[in-house]
Amino acid sequence: MADIAADRRALQALHQQDLADVERLFPGPAYRDVLGWIHDYRRPRNYLEIGVNLGLSFALVRPETRAIGVDPVPNLSQPVAGRIFKETSDVFFARPDLRNIVDAPVELSFIDGLHSFEQTLRDFINVERLAAPTSLIVLHDVHPFRPEVATRDRHRIFWTGDVWKTAAILKQERPDLSLTYVPASPSGMLLVTNLDPVQSSLDDRFAEIVAAWMPRTLPENTAEVVAGFARTANTEAAVCAYLSRFSDRPASA
Ligand SMILES: C[S@@+](CC[C@H](N)C(=O)[O-])C[C@H]1O[C@@H](n2cnc3c(N)ncnc32)[C@H](O)[C@@H]1O
Repeated sequence: MADIAADRRALQALHQQDLADVERLFPGPAYRDVLGWIHDYRRPRNYLEIGVNLGLSFALVRPETRAIGVDPVPNLSQPVAGRIFKETSDVFFARPDLRNIVDAPVELSFIDGLHSFEQTLRDFINVERLAAPTSLIVLHDVHPFRPEVATRDRHRIFWTGDVWKTAAILKQERPDLSLTYVPASPSGMLLVTNLDPVQSSLDDRFAEIVAAWMPRTLPENTAEVVAGFARTANTEAAVCAYLSRFSDRPASA
């Protein structure tokens, strides 16, 4: 019993340290602020969120947007407007009636489910298939600030997993995508557009890509993880200016 209490105290102490580092390394607005600006700027017809948890990011959806959330164990802190599917993203994307459920093309998606790179890569592949070229996919947790928060298994309260690899894979494998990194607290986000719903190279080479990236470790200087990406500041003006470079509505809508 005493050991459990001591473990909890140690975990909390590490968490306080992580929070202090986040405050120092990621100043300014957080990822949910950025997501809110994107909703307000784009006013998407529909929205697909992978990983809902308490529903805090899901709650940013505008009243006119049809929203769908997917989470095997959602832990909603309040009622949300939209449909929540209590299942893993893989089960959701395998539904035979998927296209009817999501009313494709999906215009905006936030991927924030299971924090392993192979799962987020699969989520990306599945969302892109439902998207239009002008749709926007937002990937969370792409910039861990220390190796201890980027482990494949969770050991700390604050945890990004190895989703940073997914961002690196998209950059390496898909030069046709438009990518920008936003340094929003607590662990950065990647905005992805210029999508191609019929591109299958990531899917075709999935096993090969996963095998190549599995053994890679986080660079000692974690700034290197995002150094090669175009960057958009985490201010509303900068994010909206970036979005204004792209048409925001599929031609079919
Ligand atoms: C970090 S939380 C999401 C936080 C939320 N997006 C927000 O910003 O308020 C991650 C969520 O992903 C869910 N999750 C875990 N594995 C998943 C999977 N395979 N498919 C979809 N969601 C998953 C977890 O249950 C957890 O609620």
